[in-house]
Amino acid sequence: MFVQASARGAYAYDEHGRRYIDYIMGYGPLLFGHTHPALVADLDTLAASGWIWGTTHPEEIRLAERIRNYLPAMERMRFTSTGTEAVMGAVRVARASTRRSIVVKFAGNYHGHSDLALFDAGASAHTDDASRSGIPYGVTQDVIVARYNDLDDLDAKMNGREGDIAAILVEPIVGNMGYVTPVPGFLAGLRARADRVGALLVFDEVITWLRLGLHGASAIVGITPDLVTVGKILGGGAPIAAFGGRAEVMAELAPAGRVFTGGTHAGNPVSVGMAHRVLDLLESHPHYYPQMETLAERLASGIRSLFADRALPYAVVQHASIVDFKFRAGEPNRNYDDARRADKELYRRYYDAMLARGILLPPSQNEVMFLSVAHAEGDIDATLVAIGESLDEIFTS
Ligand SMILES: Cc1ncc(COP(=O)(O)O)c(C=O)c1O
Repeated sequence: MFVQASARGAYAYDEHGRRYIDYIMGYGPLLFGHTHPALVADLDTLAASGWIWGTTHPEEIRLAERIRNYLPAMERMRFTSTGTEAVMGAVRVARASTRRSIVVKFAGNYHGHSDLALFDAGASAHTDDASRSGIPYGVTQDVIVARYNDLDDLDAKMNGREGDIAAILVEPIVGNMGYVTPVPGFLAGLRARADRVGALLVFDEVITWLRLGLHGASAIVGITPDLVTVGKILGGGAPIAAFGGRAEVMAELAPAGRVFTGGTHAGNPVSVGMAHRVLDLLESHPHYYPQMETLAERLASGIRSLFADRALPYAVVQHASIVDFKFRAGEPNRNYDDARRADKELYRRYYDAMLARGILLPPSQNEVMFLSVAHAEGDIDATLVAIGESLDEIFTS
C-alpha cells in the first residue's frame, strides 16, 4: 500500500523516500504542483494577523469580485471550506428560492458527500444501495437521478414531478466518471427544462473552474446557470470553496433571508490569501495553460501510440491538463453506464504495475489524470515508458 510521506513539485514520496510522478494532484487542486514557491513561500505572512476571524474582511470581498470577473453568473457568492458544503449551500438556496424539494442529478457526477449528492455518484463513491449507505429514506424521495447526456431519460424521470423540482444539478463537463463532455444540445436542454418547470440550473464547477481555464466550463459550454459552485484549485491546496449565483436567488441567504449556511473556517483570511495567490499566479503567467496543454497532448498522443502498437481498443481523452482513458473498448464514456463497463480488475493491475514503476495514479478508474505546471517533458516521457511496460505486464501475465 502506498503511504505518502512528502511531496514536491510533480512528485510524491512514500515513507521509504521513493519518488513517484504524481497524477492525482490532490484530486485536482494542485494545478501548480505540490510546492510552487509563489504559493508556499512566506506562508507565515498570511497568518500573521490571525488564522480565523469569523468576520467579513476586505480581502474576502475583493476575492469575490475577482471570481465574479471570471464567472459573471456568480453575481453574489458565499465562501465555504469544501466543495461538499458549496453544493449543500447551493441546493438549500435553490430549494428556498423555489419553495420546492426535489433535486435532479446525474449518475456518475460527484458533488461531494452530502446525503443527496451520493446517489449513483461517480468518483470513488460507493452508494449503489442508499438504504445500506447511511442515507435516510426521506432523502431518497427528494432526488431524481437521470442519465448524463440523455434528455429522453431525463424527461422520463422528471415526468409528473416537474412542479416539485427545485434544482437541476450537474457537472457541465464531468471529471468523475472519467472525463465526459456534454453532447451537443444536452446542457441547452437542461437550461430549457429548468426554465420550463421553474427550477434552477446549478453548475458544479468544483473540478472544472480554473482547471479548464480562468472562465471554467461555463464559458466553454456557453450556457449560463442560475447557481455555480467552485472549489479545489481556488485555494491552491488550502480549503476554500464557494457557491453563488443570481442576486435575487442568493438574497435568500441569512442574514437578509431565511437560509442559513455557515462554517467556522469559511472565508478565513489564510485560505482567502491563498486564493488571491492562485489568481495572481494565473493572471501573471498566461503561458501556464498552453504549457500544461502541450504536455497533456504529449501524454495523450503517446498513450494512443502505445495502444495502437498493441492493437488495444481504448479511447484516450485529453482536454486542457486532463488526460483520461478507460479499460473499455469503443468511444469515450458518455455516461455512467459506459463508465461502469470499464474493466476494474485490469485497472487494478495496471495501477499496481504503474505504482511499481514510480507512477502514482488515482486508485479509482472513475478519476482522471491531472497534470500540473510542475510536470515536465521528462516526466511525461518516463510515464509513457512505464505505461508501455505496464500494459505489456498486464496483458501478458
Ligand atoms: C465536481 C465536484 N463537486 C464537489 C466535490 C466535493 O468537493 P470537496 O471534496 O472539496 O468536498 C468534488 C470533489 O471531488 C467534485 O469533484
